Formats: sequence, C-alpha cells, structure tokens
Amino acid sequence: MAIRVVRLTSHDVERFREIRLEGLRSDPNGFRYSERDDAAIATSVWATRLDQDFVVAAVDDGNDEMLGVGGFGRFSGAKLSHKGLIWGMYVRSSARGSGASNAIMEGLIAHARSEVRQLQLTVMADNDRARRFYERHGFVAYGLEPQAVRQGDDYRDELSMWLSFEVTAEHKRQRLD
Ligand SMILES: CC(C)(COP(=O)(O)OP(=O)(O)OC[C@H]1O[C@@H](n2cnc3c(N)ncnc32)[C@H](O)[C@@H]1OP(=O)(O)O)[C@@H](O)C(=O)NCCC(=O)NCCS
Repeated sequence: MAIRVVRLTSHDVERFREIRLEGLRSDPNGFRYSERDDAAIATSVWATRLDQDFVVAAVDDGNDEMLGVGGFGRFSGAKLSHKGLIWGMYVRSSARGSGASNAIMEGLIAHARSEVRQLQLTVMADNDRARRFYERHGFVAYGLEPQAVRQGDDYRDELSMWLSFEVTAEHKRQRLD
C-alpha cells in the first residue's frame, strides 16, 4: 500500500473528528479521553487546534482513505516552549502494522525537531503495542502515574515517556569511544 502523509487544517475538521471519535470508540482502553467527553467539544475548538498544532494523517494513496492520525503541540510560555507533546495517535485496526503509524510519527518528529528540544507523551501503562511503537521511535519511559485514569470501577496507571533531540555529553562520549 502506498501511503502519503498530509497535514490537516481546520478545513479537515469534520473528517478529523470522525476518525478521532472512531478511535475513542474502538479502542477505549488506549486513550485517557472518553468518546462522550470528546464528542461534547465544539467543532470550532477542534478547528482552532488543527490550525494551531501540527496534526497529520496517513492516507492510502490508492483510494484517499484516512488510515490514521497523530498530533504535535508545542507548550507555550518562555519556560516551557522547549517542549512538545505528541497526542492523539490512532491508526485504524486494518492499517496497523502497515507502516501508516511509522509514517505519521516520522512526520511529527521531523516537524518537531525544528521546533523543540524534547517531546513528551503519555500512554496507558498496559498498552504494550503503543509503548513498543513509541520505544521504536526513540521514546523512553521516565515515570508512572498510578491510578491516572478511572474507567468504571477500574483505576489504570499511565506511563510518561520522552524523546530528547539533544545529544548529551554522555552520548557524545559514547560516540567518540
Ligand atoms: C498505537 C498504534 C498507533 C501503533 O501503531 P501500529 O501500526 O499498531 O504499530 P506496530 O504494528 O508497529 O506495533 C508496535 C509494536 O507492537 C507489537 N505488537 C503487535 N501486536 C501486539 C499486541 N497485540 N500486543 C503487544 N505488542 C504488539 C509489534 O510487533 C510492534 O513491535 P516491534 O516494534 O517490536 O516490531 C496503533 O496500534 C493504534 O492506533 N492503537 C489504538 C489506539 C492507541 O492505543 N493509541 C495510543 C494512544 S497513547
């Protein structure tokens, strides 16, 4: 399958919301947001976010079907703007393992590199597939928030991960060795 990555803007808000809500519905254990809460957010709010953040979709070149989406947003303020957040990673089950998720993440990282020093994200601690996906792209777990998410009678832990674009002194030494 030939996949292309496109940036989404406010013009794409309807189809973006469609695939996002599909993800929250099909994989409720993958996200910290419920479908119901998300559906209550005004379309105009999402339209603004699409223009403000850097949100991409992987699209099947053959039939233009949207296979998945992911977003990057930069923290604001003098003390925080060196950091960015990866959010809303979702790939349709039929397109998992196809390279669509890699294409999305590579697009986000390529853009983020020119904007921030580090990326952060959170992932449900028991979401092994997503965790391995993020690790493959260089993210490292740095913390665990216990009982971060309540789902019915269950409380689930959430893992915080980061990816540093800075080469540390330690890395430099290793490279020279
Ligand atoms: C998370 C997601 C974007 C990853 O994309 P993907 O195309 O499925 O990723 P991959 O197929 O490369 O799988 C990632 C890794 O998990 C492994 N894997 C596959 N199925 C698995 C399973 N059932 N359990 C654990 N690991 C699994 C893959 O082999 C791969 O490991 P590798 O890097 O060692 O080869 C996608 O699975 C998804 O949209 N999931 C539902 C929504 C979600 O959980 N989003 C994350 C929100 S934080």
